[in-house]
Amino acid sequence: MLKRIAVMTSGGDSPGMNAAIRAVVRVAIHEGVEVWGIYNGYSGMYEDQMVKLDSRSVGDILQRGGTFLGTARCEHFRTVEGRQKAVDNLKSHGIEGLVVIGGDGSMTGAQLLSEMGIAVIGLPGTIDNDIWGTDYTIGFDTASNTVVDAINKLRDTASSHGRVIVLEVMGRNSGWIAMTAGLAGGAEHILIPEMSVNLDEICEELTHSHASGKKYSVVVVAEGAGSAVEIGKKIVAVTGLDTRVSVLGHIQRGGSPSVFDRILASTLGEHAVLALIAGLSNVMFGFRNGGVVTIDLADAIRHKRTIDPSMFRLANLLAK
Ligand code: F6P
Repeated sequence: MLKRIAVMTSGGDSPGMNAAIRAVVRVAIHEGVEVWGIYNGYSGMYEDQMVKLDSRSVGDILQRGGTFLGTARCEHFRTVEGRQKAVDNLKSHGIEGLVVIGGDGSMTGAQLLSEMGIAVIGLPGTIDNDIWGTDYTIGFDTASNTVVDAINKLRDTASSHGRVIVLEVMGRNSGWIAMTAGLAGGAEHILIPEMSVNLDEICEELTHSHASGKKYSVVVVAEGAGSAVEIGKKIVAVTGLDTRVSVLGHIQRGGSPSVFDRILASTLGEHAVLALIAGLSNVMFGFRNGGVVTIDLADAIRHKRTIDPSMFRLANLLAK
């Protein structure tokens, strides 16, 4: 019987990570398993920054964005020696199982640890929604709602002045936030890294739609698809339309998690602990077609999550 496990967060923080930690801690305690928290991700594992947690340690965090355990990058963990030191630290505390909450880089680290004899379960935590095998990652829903809120506010001022607004949102390699918030927010144009961008065509459409009565337009750009500032300059140069640019930045990473993210995080947290107790390792839990699914970490890492083209088509159709 498993006696002691640990939980950590890694990579960019996302709203709902705290809810997942809380679930891991409280389910483990309920099952008679001791839980430790590792501070600052793989860096804290390497530096031996870990403490025993109890139910009260995770009180008052459910509603908070970010991660109370912290997160950090760790160069040492990229080396075999660094990983060995991290594993030695885990073993010195008698930690036999680990829950890693984070993005694709964090899942790669989790797989490496499992190859070194530590039982590891991954939970997808990133606002980018770019992990293969799950329809949703913890934090994506909250971040998308933050962007929709921004679009609503930008619409107010754009409609008052009859302007084009170019809004840059997060997503260095992924257009999920831009696509989802753009569709939900009624953006006229959505630019994402997964699809080639024809700015001349967009300028032509903007000229045409404004000439034929459209009062204002919102263009949502994922950061990986281009710079909103440069796109705004081009729109002004080609169309002459009154245009303003807004870069939302790290506001998208914070905030109280949505109901969906809290429930997703709590459910996946419970599954992670029960899986470790059942002797599972080297898998990630995700949410697909309305239910919890188990994904091999190797598959989650190997495959690239693609965008849903039907969302893109619908967003374009509804923006006419
Ligand atoms: O959390 C994912 C992400 O938000 C990306 O979309 C973005 O490019 C990146 O993190 C920025 O993270 P940081 O500022 O921590 O480097």
